[in-house]
Amino acid sequence: MSKQRLEGKVAIITGAASGIGEATARIFTTHGALVVIADIQDELGAGVVASIGPGKCKYKRCDVRNEKEVEELVDFTIKAYGRLDIMFSNAGISEKLTSTILDVDFAVLDNVIAVNVRGVAATIKHAARAMVASGTRGSIICTASIAVTKGGFGPAVYTASKLAVVGLVRSAAAELGRHGIRANCVSPGGVVTPLALSLCGWSQSQVEEFAGAMMVLKGGGPLKASDIGEAALFLASDESAFVTGQNLMVDGGVTAVGSRPASRVE
Ligand SMILES: NC(=O)c1ccc[n+]([C@@H]2O[C@H](COP(=O)([O-])OP(=O)(O)OC[C@H]3O[C@@H](n4cnc5c(N)ncnc54)[C@H](O)[C@@H]3O)[C@@H](O)[C@H]2O)c1
Repeated sequence: MSKQRLEGKVAIITGAASGIGEATARIFTTHGALVVIADIQDELGAGVVASIGPGKCKYKRCDVRNEKEVEELVDFTIKAYGRLDIMFSNAGISEKLTSTILDVDFAVLDNVIAVNVRGVAATIKHAARAMVASGTRGSIICTASIAVTKGGFGPAVYTASKLAVVGLVRSAAAELGRHGIRANCVSPGGVVTPLALSLCGWSQSQVEEFAGAMMVLKGGGPLKASDIGEAALFLASDESAFVTGQNLMVDGGVTAVGSRPASRVE
């Protein structure tokens, strides 16, 4: 397998100033892609560019809640790098993990839906328009969550928003397939990122211990942002040329296996 799996490709990654998006920007550029890092945290975004190298990536402020800014992000990318092959629509937020359906705050709900659903729809729309216009057989990847598989993995509004992401991606796969454009989700299990830490108020080791205890796959240490980035790399690359409409779970078996079957317990 060639080391440069994204040679000649241009990617946008939203939410790339931090966490999973940042780790993915490092992986994509290592594999030869030119990347536009889109976020609302300007200083962090500029720091990511400085650390990866300005020859391989650029920062563009983009609040994904604002369709005009998403359209400008796509235009900026095409002006800067001449094309768009990959949209990793990864920016996301959540209400606090302690929130329940009993105390839904509708201002918070509106904001979670605006970022996680409206923002994802806008990124798919404008990336796909550019890809269709240029005849590019592009790859669109959206970050969902293990919360889409059953109740209780995340708070209600976040869970609903991520189910909407899966719906948008399946519909995009159906509608864009005739243009040769693929659309898939990647669904992380629990990864220590600023988002995860701020939502639960736990320490890094507490989050790792909790998430690790749920994983069926043992011995690999905690799930890391780069593990999600490696899955996004597969979905972005030509190695997944016939994979579309899927939701790739990167969770150490939490959702597919659950707990170990009784017959296998020593
Ligand atoms: N960390 C986890 O355990 C976990 C699990 C499942 C899914 N996810 C999903 O992974 C994605 C990335 O989250 P993360 O854990 O890396 O968190 P993070 O907070 O480190 O990164 C999210 C980034 O999105 C950016 N962002 C937020 N609102 C934005 C907006 N309106 N416009 C543009 N950018 C915006 C933030 O500034 C931040 O840089 C999210 O969609 C999240 O729901 C995370």
